[in-house]
Amino acid sequence: MTKIAIIGAGPSGLAQLRAFQAAAAAGADMPELVCYEKQADWGGLWNYTWRTGLDEHGNPCHGSMYRYLWSNGPKEGLEFADYTFEEHFGKQIASYPPRAVLFDYIKGRVEKAGVRDWIKFNHHVRDVRWDGKQFEITVRDETRDSESREMFDYVVVATGHFSVPNVPYYEGFENFNGRILHAHDFRDAREFTGKDLLILGTSYSAEDIGSQCWKYGAKSITVSHRTAPMGYDWPDNWREVPKLQKVEPRQAVFADGSSGEFDTIILCTGYKHHFPFLGDDLRLKTANRLATNDLYKGVVYVPNPRLFYLGMQDQWYTFNMFDAQAWWARDVMMGRIALPDKATMHADWKKRQADEDALADDYACIAYQGAYTAELIDETDYPSFDIEAANQAFYDWKKHKKQNIMGFRDQSYISAMTGTASPKHHTAWVKALDDSMESYLKN
Ligand SMILES: Cc1cc2nc3c(=O)[nH]c(=O)nc-3n(C[C@H](O)[C@H](O)[C@H](O)COP(=O)(O)OP(=O)(O)OC[C@H]3O[C@@H](n4cnc5c(N)ncnc54)[C@H](O)[C@@H]3O)c2cc1C
Ligand SMILES: NC(=O)c1ccc[n+]([C@@H]2O[C@H](COP(=O)([O-])OP(=O)(O)OC[C@H]3O[C@@H](n4cnc5c(N)ncnc54)[C@H](OP(=O)(O)O)[C@@H]3O)[C@@H](O)[C@H]2O)c1
Repeated sequence: MTKIAIIGAGPSGLAQLRAFQAAAAAGADMPELVCYEKQADWGGLWNYTWRTGLDEHGNPCHGSMYRYLWSNGPKEGLEFADYTFEEHFGKQIASYPPRAVLFDYIKGRVEKAGVRDWIKFNHHVRDVRWDGKQFEITVRDETRDSESREMFDYVVVATGHFSVPNVPYYEGFENFNGRILHAHDFRDAREFTGKDLLILGTSYSAEDIGSQCWKYGAKSITVSHRTAPMGYDWPDNWREVPKLQKVEPRQAVFADGSSGEFDTIILCTGYKHHFPFLGDDLRLKTANRLATNDLYKGVVYVPNPRLFYLGMQDQWYTFNMFDAQAWWARDVMMGRIALPDKATMHADWKKRQADEDALADDYACIAYQGAYTAELIDETDYPSFDIEAANQAFYDWKKHKKQNIMGFRDQSYISAMTGTASPKHHTAWVKALDDSMESYLKN
């Protein structure tokens, strides 16, 4: 029987399990599946941990999420086509759910599908080798403190790429009289109440961690950009400054000669695609972009087409794009989709990158990733949905951010799956300090 290993039980790995379970429910012959998850529970980044640094087993802590994190995009862009928010919560809910609410939604689908028994928790994949015919996986059972090896015909890497921090060095960091941390280690905004914060980076982590710290009472937020400022209409105690030049014991000096005193520096400088369990022949090496290197259809590793990667793209679309990829990968592994020759597969990702490079703006990027998701869905039996309606939720989100960066989460959108409008949340985001599920669902 064909044996398949899935590494990681975050949203991507769970999508893969659900894809196989859906085929089994429709009467298909099932391959043998094992999903290895190094944490004690499923959900990936959505399985919140208070830990930073090392996990309880001494391995790098996977979690990058923080308390009080709310979805940064509308839930109407990420909704599962086979399991809607209305099905899960029994009603339509507001559009920017906090972390705990999204975690509950992710869990609901796989609990319904009954795939938990396929997952080996506290199992850390240490090594994957290709012997010319099969993959040998070395995995450590952290609970039993023992290592074992097993052979597989296919491997699906679903270990995410927003966990291992990209940590730059700037002159003087070693002499700074405050804390320097990466976004990966940020947990609780209340730690920074009354503090002067310097943030490096201009993407989602910078914007959202800055906004959270502002919401929970930071004294001031200064964001330094390497390329360009974010340019939102920020509150009075928030400023944007050019590239950091150097740090002195209390001060930071910027490229235009301006400076400031800070208590803490938060490096919101992104993450690395990092796969320490893979050798050079199997390891994806790519920038964080919409069309990665070396992946045919964004999924099949061209140098070894028995290896699949899920969710390795930069992400506008998330959960439903991971589903599209997982259903498509499943159909290759089940012999329903035939792969072309290597030259064709190579030309595919090159063309996707050239198309990406020609995109004019964020709106075009959203449409591009929407079209990619639709392309995969059209080739499988994943329930198709109105991608244009999901794109529209993202376009409206972008406009709402421009209008009011601290207020965009008070907006609501229409589900591409059910056509229903979300209610407005009962409390403005800036005032909603309690983000528990009980509080959020009170609408
Ligand atoms: C701070 C932050 C906020 C985000 N907010 C949003 C949001 O609001 N909305 C949204 O749609 N997306 C958001 N994202 C994007 C996020 O990438 C996706 O939502 C999603 O979690 C990706 O799923 P994944 O399964 O690909 O990866 P992950 O969620 O990272 O899951 C990977 C899993 O693999 C496991 N694993 C890793 N290595 C091994 C190993 N060697 N052996 C065994 N198991 C292993 C990990 O323990 C983990 O469970 C956010 C990301 C970050 C960092
Ligand atoms: N609430 C939420 O839902 C939420 C919150 C946070 C993050 N996220 C998710 O997390 C993921 C990662 O986002 P991210 O913002 O951490 O990473 P990212 O999108 O990859 O952005 C990295 C940022 O770091 C900057 N940078 C990189 N190296 C630098 C250096 N040496 N010096 C200065 N700046 C540097 C980049 O600047 P350049 O532009 O100059 O390259 C860029 O602004 C996204 O998918 C996002 O959606 C979600």
